[in-house]
Amino acid sequence: MKRLHQNSPAQRMLRSRAGRTFIALALFGAGACAKRDAVDSARAQGRQPSDFPEVAVDAFQAMDGGVTLTPDEVKGRNTWMMWTAGNAEFWDWMARYGYGTIDLLRTLDSRGRSTRFARMGLVNEPGFRAAPRPDTLGVWLDEPVEATPSGIDPRVYGRASGIVGLRLFPNPAFDSAAAKRWNADRYYGDPNYYNDRTLVRPYMVGMACAFCHVSYNPVSPPADPENPKWDNLSTYIGNQYFRASAVFAPAMSEHSFVYQLMRAMRDGTLDTSLLATDDVFNPSNMNGIFNVGPRLAAATEEHMAGGTLNLKGEQPVMQVPHILKDGADGVGILGALSRVFVNIGEFHQEWLRDHNVLVGGTPQHPFEVAQLRVLGRDRESRGEPRQVLPSCRPAREVGRRPKRQGVPHDRRVGSDPRQNGLRRALRPVSLEQTAPSRRRSHVA
Ligand code: HEC
Repeated sequence: MKRLHQNSPAQRMLRSRAGRTFIALALFGAGACAKRDAVDSARAQGRQPSDFPEVAVDAFQAMDGGVTLTPDEVKGRNTWMMWTAGNAEFWDWMARYGYGTIDLLRTLDSRGRSTRFARMGLVNEPGFRAAPRPDTLGVWLDEPVEATPSGIDPRVYGRASGIVGLRLFPNPAFDSAAAKRWNADRYYGDPNYYNDRTLVRPYMVGMACAFCHVSYNPVSPPADPENPKWDNLSTYIGNQYFRASAVFAPAMSEHSFVYQLMRAMRDGTLDTSLLATDDVFNPSNMNGIFNVGPRLAAATEEHMAGGTLNLKGEQPVMQVPHILKDGADGVGILGALSRVFVNIGEFHQEWLRDHNVLVGGTPQHPFEVAQLRVLGRDRESRGEPRQVLPSCRPAREVGRRPKRQGVPHDRRVGSDPRQNGLRRALRPVSLEQTAPSRRRSHVA
């Protein structure tokens, strides 16, 4: 029997050099297949792009000085405010594997609502108040005091959390075994418990663009910064108060290197390559998104190549305004916008394999757009420029000039015929086409 095994084709193959090479290649091939096979959970659940429709309800009408938006612009603002592109899973992963850094469910602890802005610079969501008691699972979540607008599908957008830009989703992994193990008191009080990688939290928290970009409208600031109303808020102003150390390292000792790294980012700034770890400390402020048209007019011409051309709307030659300090918009505005969704955790199943998150020290691999195509996530799918782009529209229109308080609605931005003219001129063409070409003189 033994003899027979030793001379089996498999044994013979192992002994020969060619055989070993073949097996190595086969294993490598299997690895490559596994890489190709990174599948996001929406797809794993058989959900289609049509299961994630853009929502046309004007849910944030009072924001941005009450500007009147077209239906497409409304969809765009909703995307900006609520669409988390499936990244709730990534932030849950970070809560478990992020070395005790960010845990957004703890960030939402309602007992801290009255000091949230002062501590973290985050914007309390209007229509909520601090909860008098935890929910049935012992989780302290802000309590809604106003009806949330109807027509917003929680399976797509989650539900409002009490912090602008954070959306709550049930955690599908929270089964009866997880429920049995769940101890809310320990979750809030015992680092051994909340830092345990195997802990299954009852909720996941998704992050929308609004989390870092919404803040107080400078011409209509709130009477109490801890209790703004929607008409005190601007979608495009940028959160100039965001405190990275309080958001990304809330439970860390002041003596830890990571805390100090985060604390070194000035309020209102963040190193956008913090997670993807380019090993450069490069915090920059959440810019107000003003004058995008004129900025494109002053842009320089760049030539695109390779996988970049797989981005939807990408042209071989594009106008690039070079706004992002780490050069992330070198691919043009469309690519830069869709990239942000990836950078904040969309399709983390792939993204996490492309670098060693937070820590670095390993080579980075490109996040291939073609990979998304294989997965059918281009065109109508989530996080794709078509979805993201409308979110520029309200910013682009209203960003030209903050309205003055007390100006009647009919004279506000949006009803100004010149601005409507601009809007008409800009809408049908892609942003790249709005700028006159100005060739960049490259120094060889
Ligand atoms: C965690 C914080 C954070 C989130 C969430 C975030 N951003 Fe940003 N954003 C920043 C920072 C910081 C900058 C400034 C970066 C720089 O200048 O290099 C920025 C800059 C930008 C700009 C350029 C602004 C300008 O001057 O015109 C755009 C556009 C933008 N972000 C889009 C998005 C989109 C789209 C999303 C959602 C998918 C998003 N951001 C989510 C932090 C964030």
